[in-house]
Amino acid sequence: MSIDKRIAEAKERVEHALDGRLPPATIHPARLHEAMRYAVLGGGKRLRPLLVYLSGEALDGQRAALDEAACAVECIHCYSLVHDDLPAMDDDALRRGRPTCHRAYDEATAILVGDALQSLAFRLLARATAVPAETRVAMVETLAVAAGSRGMCGGQAMDLAAVGHQLTEAELEDMHIHKTGALIRASVRLGALCAPDATADALERLDHFAKCIGLAFQVQDDVLDVDGDEAVTGKPSGADARLHKPTYPALLGVAETRAFASKLCEDALASIEPLGDRAQGLREVARYIVERDH
Ligand code: IPE
Ligand code: IPE
Ligand code: MG
Ligand code: MG
Ligand code: MG
Repeated sequence: MSIDKRIAEAKERVEHALDGRLPPATIHPARLHEAMRYAVLGGGKRLRPLLVYLSGEALDGQRAALDEAACAVECIHCYSLVHDDLPAMDDDALRRGRPTCHRAYDEATAILVGDALQSLAFRLLARATAVPAETRVAMVETLAVAAGSRGMCGGQAMDLAAVGHQLTEAELEDMHIHKTGALIRASVRLGALCAPDATADALERLDHFAKCIGLAFQVQDDVLDVDGDEAVTGKPSGADARLHKPTYPALLGVAETRAFASKLCEDALASIEPLGDRAQGLREVARYIVERDH
């Protein structure tokens, strides 16, 4: 199956699942519910859900639990985007080709949308009854760590503290691994947790794979900020330079940054080499992450 087909299928599957799990826009408080749906259902590549599905597929995970995990991680991701775009953070007006949540609604609503999406994510995991309760607890812990101060939020704090400063390559890597890598790594782990028979070796290989592609994803995001087409990415180009954010292209130049992303992709592929045909989807995603134009 081509990567485009895999992406399209995962997108359709998770969007249908999200639509059924988000509160209807007609229910009180309607404006908040409408804004939550605006933030989640308005496009996006759905890469993290795709990773949940593919890692579950690679290890024969429970299908029904994969949907809860995929929706949960996408809720956290969408919340992170809504808050990332706020005036106090990146102050962006465009996201997924549309006005950012705080522009379409207002700042207070956007803050609450993020808060409510985060709560919804954990509620969904708690209700993943296709897997045993102890697996659900492990899923909750995985996502909580990845979203919190030792994961995405911590990375966002590093990002804000780094504005206007030159970081070393090691510091930049640390920031990217946290702000973006953590949720991508958690996506792969959540899929694997839905597979009761996964071996420790397979879990370790998938985890190293996820660590590499998580960093590669943000490295490519930095590249797209420099040479991406706004009409294709759906978000403003040149935003990092405007905000004086340290990035890989600013530190290494675009060519060396692309070479670094390719090396991360090769490392990721080597890690899951022994997992056989069932991991083919994950291999294609790794290549897609460093070749993508949006
Ligand atoms: C954008 O993530 C923010 C980063 C972590 C780099 P995506 O590029 O996955 O955004 P969507 O979900 O496709 O809009
Ligand atoms: C975002 O990094 C990471 C998040 C946790 C949302 P960026 O600030 O580079 O993401 P974009 O470019 O706005 O999507
Ligand atoms: Mg940011
Ligand atoms: Mg941003
Ligand atoms: Mg960016």
